[in-house]
Amino acid sequence: STNRTFTMIKPDAVENGHIGAILEKITAAGFKIVAMKYTQLSLRDAQEFYGVHRERPFFGELVEFMTRGPIVSAILEKENAVEDFRALIGATNPADAAEGTIRKMFATSIGENAVHGSDSDENAAIEGAFHFSGREIY
Ligand code: CMP
Repeated sequence: STNRTFTMIKPDAVENGHIGAILEKITAAGFKIVAMKYTQLSLRDAQEFYGVHRERPFFGELVEFMTRGPIVSAILEKENAVEDFRALIGATNPADAAEGTIRKMFATSIGENAVHGSDSDENAAIEGAFHFSGREIY
């Protein structure tokens, strides 16, 4: 059935000029954009958004990276959205990502990996609501 996932084009991909190419791949794969904004996360936003990773050794680096410049955040709709979007972006580490995936094409490293994709329907709803109010979703 049709459902939603949440994504961010991360600061590395924005800095490297890949917003347009990434959005093109997303829409060409059949995802409909139902919400989108260009924004920059505050330190508190990033710490809260990535709260599940608080105890990880890379947490500080992750928060610093995600706040260093603007991002594009979006809610996407499609049949089987969460799973299909994760297939489109590829493995977390671009070195392991399949040919033709967004991370293979545009990511720099495991930390600076170009895009985020929700890992479950539950997290897609939580992450979408963190970034967008009901009135910003069309
Ligand atoms: P994402 O899956 O979108 O959300 C968690 C992020 O943590 C992940 O992308 C990576 O950007 C980052 N991350 C995961 N593992 C590492 C790691 N070993 N070193 C640095 N960053 C990491």
